Amino acid sequence: MSLRCDQTPEWPLLQAHFSSVAGQQDLRQSFAEDAQRFAHFSQSAPHVFADLSKNLWSRDVEALLLDMARHAGVEQHRDAMLAGQPINSTEGRAVLHTLLRRPAGLSQPGGQSSVAADLANVHATLTAMLAYAETVRADDGITDVVNIGIGGSDLGPHMAVLALEEFRLPGKRFHFVSNVDGHELHHVMRGLRAENTLFLIASKTFTTAETMTNARSALAWFSDSGGRDVARHFAALTTNVDAAKALGITTTFGFWDWVGGRYSLWSAIGLPIAIAIGSVGFRDLLAGAHAMDEHFRTAPLEQNLPVRLGLLDIWYRNFHGFTSRCIAPYHAALRRLPAYLQQLEMESNGKRVGLDGKTLPYATSPVLWGEPGTNGQHAFFQMLHQGTDVLPLELIAVRQPTHPLQGHHNKLLANALAQAQALMVGKASENGHRHFPGNRPSTFLLLDALTPASLGALIALQEHRVFVSGSLWGINSFDQWGVELGKVLAKDIEARLANGDVAGLDGSTAGLLERLRAHA
Ligand code: F6P
Repeated sequence: MSLRCDQTPEWPLLQAHFSSVAGQQDLRQSFAEDAQRFAHFSQSAPHVFADLSKNLWSRDVEALLLDMARHAGVEQHRDAMLAGQPINSTEGRAVLHTLLRRPAGLSQPGGQSSVAADLANVHATLTAMLAYAETVRADDGITDVVNIGIGGSDLGPHMAVLALEEFRLPGKRFHFVSNVDGHELHHVMRGLRAENTLFLIASKTFTTAETMTNARSALAWFSDSGGRDVARHFAALTTNVDAAKALGITTTFGFWDWVGGRYSLWSAIGLPIAIAIGSVGFRDLLAGAHAMDEHFRTAPLEQNLPVRLGLLDIWYRNFHGFTSRCIAPYHAALRRLPAYLQQLEMESNGKRVGLDGKTLPYATSPVLWGEPGTNGQHAFFQMLHQGTDVLPLELIAVRQPTHPLQGHHNKLLANALAQAQALMVGKASENGHRHFPGNRPSTFLLLDALTPASLGALIALQEHRVFVSGSLWGINSFDQWGVELGKVLAKDIEARLANGDVAGLDGSTAGLLERLRAHA
């Protein structure tokens, strides 16, 4: 039996502790009083070292949060997910993205019997997909790979292909078209030749309006440009192979309804990554993620990094009342990571009702945002240092660069450290404009090197921390009903834009629609 976070005995204790002590914590004092603070609040997990010590919490707070997680049944919920139970209750589905990175033949303790069969299917599909990726890599006739997909069918592959650019095969260009805005597809197609292009149509459902519109336009462009062999130049990555075939795409790689869109880069949706970095690289990505899965599954809660991060997220959102988390990757190749994490956190945990469908009495997902460092420092970091809101920062740094410009890397790492230090330490000044209050929190995640394996571990870490906070909030982190209404209304408005009918519309929508038509 799992409990919501506010139903555990620790919840009121945390509230009382926040009001009397923790709400006034000063990090500078916390470090002065505890010489072991860094040792206690830092830890290694597979491929990731984390320093959580510059956060506004104490050992007492963490102990209460850990007990809260135990009472709430986070471990049981995690095991239920890993075992393939249908924890996505509103859709009656299992949540098994971890199976996509589980080595062949490795059974899960307590796993449903169907899971072993699924694992065999996963590996058969993976083998076929990686063989295809190698064929494409070896095909010098294909110079451009265009991924058409949106949301989870774009953000993960796009982020990973950029992040692993150092491992990428030279001689092939990768393009990602997600938006229904024709500017995007038009701009990409302008530079392509049909005979040298491979289109990957990535859509779990194969019904998403943006992707279907872009796919149809790409097919039309291909034929108008003299392209003949659709089977060679188009592949569909989908759970809905029949719909792909109905569109005329016969080269298909499938996956399963128990893979959520935002958790799908490990499946056939990862094909652009596999083409970019090769089958060995893709298997390394999976292995890195699996190592983090095993850490999440087996490490005691007090040394379990996804659990500690998820608990900190709850503490910040529900006790400190912080509304956002700023992501600053100190590595230019991780420039799409903030966008990727936005979907992961906010589509998973941006929910206002519990599993019973009733309104929750507390806040859930923070807003995630960010830009790579050092760029962000010259844009919005002003607000982090001296604004009226406290905005927790998550820095992600990489120890070893893959370029020879060591001086640059030292400067980059110095900036990452200095920002976290400045936020916490602050600087007193009589002049209010020059005063830095300090005591502003940050988390520092450090990879030894940015490789397929470490990227896999970093992403799996983020997936599991989102699971932990969602589990404690008692929400379904694996559905996304909130995206439906806009989709339905867009269809209605598309027709009205064509015929000018504004009957029944609110005044603003009607006024804007008429203005758009007048200027058409
Ligand atoms: O917009 C919601 C959503 O369903 C996301 O969850 C998903 O990643 C995206 O659309 C794309 O969906 P599909 O892969 O089915 O095209």
